[in-house]
Amino acid sequence: MDLLKGKTGLVLGVANHRSLAWHIAGACSRAGARVILTYQNDRLGENVRELTKGLQDAMTFPCDVTDDDDLAALAQFVGENAPKLDFLVHSLAWARREELEGEFLTTSREGYREAHDVSVYSLVALARLARPFLRAGGGGSVLALTFHGSQRVFPGYNVMGTAKASLEAAVRYLAHDLGPDNIRVNALSPGPVRTLAASGVKGLVRMLDLYRQRAPLRRAPDPAEIADAALFLLSHLGRGVTGEILYVDGGYHLTAV
Ligand SMILES: NC(=O)c1ccc[n+]([C@@H]2O[C@H](COP(=O)([O-])OP(=O)(O)OC[C@H]3O[C@@H](n4cnc5c(N)ncnc54)[C@H](O)[C@@H]3O)[C@@H](O)[C@H]2O)c1
Repeated sequence: MDLLKGKTGLVLGVANHRSLAWHIAGACSRAGARVILTYQNDRLGENVRELTKGLQDAMTFPCDVTDDDDLAALAQFVGENAPKLDFLVHSLAWARREELEGEFLTTSREGYREAHDVSVYSLVALARLARPFLRAGGGGSVLALTFHGSQRVFPGYNVMGTAKASLEAAVRYLAHDLGPDNIRVNALSPGPVRTLAASGVKGLVRMLDLYRQRAPLRRAPDPAEIADAALFLLSHLGRGVTGEILYVDGGYHLTAV
C-alpha cells in the first residue's frame, strides 16, 4: 500500500479522467506519493485542477512541452516545491489528425517534425530538467508511455509509429546517461485503451476487438493494470530495471497469426 510513501513525483499528460497519466497519478497518490500534475493549456487546466482536488497534497502547473519558456517555468516550480524529486512520468503524445489516416507515405515534413517534437524530444528535455532534482533525492525513476506500433505496423498509426520507435531508443540512451546518477529510465507499452489520444487513431474499436480475440489474456489492458505496472517501475520494486520496455498488453505482442 505504501510503496511510494514520502516520495514526490512529476506527472505530465493528464487531459481528463480517462488519461493514462490520471490513472497512474491516482495509483501513485494512493501509494503515498505527493504528485505534481501538469496540464497542456488553460482549456484543460480547469478540469485537471478539479480532478486533482481528489488527490492528497497534489499540485498542478501548466506546461506545453513544445515551449521552452514553459519548461523553464516548470523547472523553477519544481525547484521551489519539490527540490528532491523521486519520479517523473511522461504520458503524452501528439500528431496532426491528418497524419493518422491513409498512407504513412504521405506524412508531411512538418507533421513528422511536430509529432517527434511533442512525443519524443519532450522526454529528453524533461529528463534533463528533472535530473538535478532526482539526483538531489539520491536517484529516481523516469517512465514514458509507448505503443507496439513502434515495432509492428498498425495501419493508421503512421507517424506515431516512428515517434514511438524513437521514444523507445531515447529511453535506452537516457538510461545509459542517467544510470550513474541512480536514475532509471523505462517505458510501459500498453495495449489500446479508450482515451482522448487513442480516439485520434483510426480503427480503435477493431483493435480492441483483436486484442480480446488474440491476446493470450483475451483482453486489452485495464487502466488499473497499467497503473500497477507503473507503480512497479516507479517504486523500489523496480530498482534493478532500467532501459526496459515493459508490455502491459495481455501478451498481444507475442502473437503472429
Ligand atoms: N490510450 C492508448 O491506447 C495508449 C496505448 C499505448 C500508449 N499510449 C500512450 O499513453 C500516453 C498518454 O496518452 P493517453 O492515451 O492517456 O491519452 P490522453 O489524450 O489522455 O493523453 C495525452 C496527453 O498528451 C498531452 N499533450 C499533447 N501535446 C502536448 C504538449 N504540446 N504539451 C503538453 N502536453 C501535451 C495532452 O494534453 C494529453 O494530456 C501517450 O504517450 C500515448 O501514446 C496510449
